[in-house]
Amino acid sequence: MAPKSLHLFLFVCSRANINMPVLRTLSKVAKQALLVSQGCGCQPLTVAVRNISFSPRQVTSDASFHSVSFSETDHPKVLITGGLGQLGVGLAKVLRKRFGNNNVILSDIRKPPSHVFHSGPFIYSDILDYKNLREIVVNNRITWLVHYSALLSAVGEANVPLARAVNITGLHNILDIAAEHGLRLFVPSTIGAFGPTSPRNPTPDLCIQRPRTIYGVSKVHAELMGEYYHHRYGLDFRCLRYPGIISADSQPGGGTTDYAVQIFHDAIKTGKFECNLRPDTRLPMMYIDDCLRATVEIMESPVDTLSMRTYNINAMSFTPEELAQEVMKQLPDLEVSYDVDQVRQAIADSWPMNFDDDNARRDWGWKHDYDLPELVQTMFNYIGSETRLAQVN
Ligand SMILES: NC(=O)c1ccc[n+]([C@@H]2O[C@H](COP(=O)([O-])OP(=O)(O)OC[C@H]3O[C@@H](n4cnc5c(N)ncnc54)[C@H](O)[C@@H]3O)[C@@H](O)[C@H]2O)c1
Repeated sequence: MAPKSLHLFLFVCSRANINMPVLRTLSKVAKQALLVSQGCGCQPLTVAVRNISFSPRQVTSDASFHSVSFSETDHPKVLITGGLGQLGVGLAKVLRKRFGNNNVILSDIRKPPSHVFHSGPFIYSDILDYKNLREIVVNNRITWLVHYSALLSAVGEANVPLARAVNITGLHNILDIAAEHGLRLFVPSTIGAFGPTSPRNPTPDLCIQRPRTIYGVSKVHAELMGEYYHHRYGLDFRCLRYPGIISADSQPGGGTTDYAVQIFHDAIKTGKFECNLRPDTRLPMMYIDDCLRATVEIMESPVDTLSMRTYNINAMSFTPEELAQEVMKQLPDLEVSYDVDQVRQAIADSWPMNFDDDNARRDWGWKHDYDLPELVQTMFNYIGSETRLAQVN
């Protein structure tokens, strides 16, 4: 056995907890062979093993599984975890249009609403249950995994142990399964992966990242672990740092930028909006259609266009005051007041004000469609047609 293969063999045996006598003996022999080869003055051993789909957790019982290949014309078979949140249902819709309804499976731990359940495949999956996740991937011959399950910034601060479990332990399960089965893996990161010591206006892709929330810490961890698995095991890991995402037909999941969605609903429903951030809090934001398109685009980008594995993407950047002014062009009677939530404000004050996404624009052609005026118009078109807005107009 070549030294590199011996190292890999020992590593896999140890991580997979193999204790069958025969493998123990093989492992001993391999160790001895390694000592001999190291003592022979050969080249130093390398540990980077690219393009081999070994999981550090699991030795597959079916060695030929990894040689299953998909022709160029095959559609990917996609699993979306945490798919019932703000972004998953929309992404499933986009991907199903592209790859066919049955090729995109939504999963979550919550019960899907009827329209989601009847719109395409849905499956229960708790990302903390490694075996269940593996079963789903194997039985459905999944080739792309979009990992959306997470506790977002504000809810994460309210339950740190759960956020740590879902965002960090859950990610480990996802990484191992993706590496084991040769999946292309997308994990979103966030503006929250930066902190008060990062340059904030603008924030480049590569700079100091010392976030002060469990959410941010877990996302930096995800970025680094994904990139590590890419270099170490050849995992096709792809990651975008999303800004705050604004959507009309899905509710935000407890993030610091939620106000920018809530304002539309409250403006239309009651004509009043109480903002939980200071009026001058500037944060990067994006309309959901841009976010979902960016996600599909990076997943489809040829490997050689990606000079990095984690990219900032940006569209616009505004304060609550600027957003309210734009909203008042449609609803001039809107009353806005401010009751600052200190937890959210502290988080927002540590986040980027503006995102530098030059690398995404250069490498794989990222380009946003929605600026603030188009965003506001689109939101009102979507949710406002039969309500106060229609009456005003
Ligand atoms: N929405 C945004 O503004 C935004 C911005 C930046 C990054 N992101 C990232 O995008 C991803 C999706 O965001 P979202 O806004 O849809 O989140 P969300 O909070 O709306 O949804 C997350 C989903 O994860 C599910 N979940 C929780 N624990 C789980 C578990 N143990 N197993 C399986 N599922 C579990 C929840 O039920 C929920 O449906 C997240 O990773 C988030 O960090 C979102």
